[in-house]
Amino acid sequence: MMRIAALMLAGAAVLGALNAAADVQAGKATYAVCATCHGQQGEGNVALNAPRLAGQEDWYLSRQLTAYRAGRRGTAQGDIYGMQMRPMAMTVVGAEAEANLIEYIGKLPALPAPVTIEGDAAAGQQKYAICVACHGARGEGVQALGGPRLAGQDDWYLVRQLQNYKNGLRAYSKSDAFGQQMKPMAMTLNDDKAINDVVAYINTLR
Ligand code: HEC
Ligand code: HEC
Repeated sequence: MMRIAALMLAGAAVLGALNAAADVQAGKATYAVCATCHGQQGEGNVALNAPRLAGQEDWYLSRQLTAYRAGRRGTAQGDIYGMQMRPMAMTVVGAEAEANLIEYIGKLPALPAPVTIEGDAAAGQQKYAICVACHGARGEGVQALGGPRLAGQDDWYLVRQLQNYKNGLRAYSKSDAFGQQMKPMAMTLNDDKAINDVVAYINTLR
């Protein structure tokens, strides 16, 4: 028992050192530009179409910033919101700056976004069964399969992303391997009602 406790303490010390390696103050400074659209607390801003960032998985934030920079997101014709975000991802230069920024976002309070979408959550629950494998039963995200956290995200943003997958504003690039996995899943939602229903169910997973 003592040895296990000692090992756990040593592990915690290593993790602490890793975290200390990220410069949260530098990350905060980089975040100042993001705050103008995503909010001081990363809470999202519906008027500016910018989703909540607080509470999202660090690996997913990093992958999306990379996708914007590489043009796998935010370059499809007609994707006006993605086109606003893409140059912002370009302002984060270098792995260290990005790590600091994401460390700072990870410290923001992960309060669930307000509910704005109405739908039939019971019908949505049945549709969500197929989503569980990659997003988790509680919408918590499944890193091993690349599926981000959905629970607590702005519901209007989830609706718009599902529409984007369906109409080709997202996952339009062959090099977007993760998006290519998601697109056929969005296709299982036949119409706007099905989208609203599944998002209404995701709203119950908070
Ligand atoms: C001019 C406003 C604006 C600024 C400034 C901005 N963003 Fe965004 N961001 C957006 C919009 C709008 C979207 C949604 C795009 C869409 O609908 O596809 C977005 C989406 C994102 C996403 C994708 C989230 C997800 O779950 O899919 C991430 C990550 C992100 N922004 C991070 C940042 C970071 C980090 C910064 C600062 C370096 C930043 N943004 C600055 C407007 C902005
Ligand atoms: C085979 C795995 C898989 C299944 C099943 C799946 N997804 Fe996804 N989903 C993903 C991946 C991977 C991404 C991230 C794509 C990327 O990195 O751009 C994603 C992204 C999303 C996003 C965008 C979130 C954001 O913040 O950008 C939404 C919304 C979403 N999925 C909803 C659903 C719903 C609803 C279902 C069920 C109908 C579903 N997914 C089923 C893998 C899956």
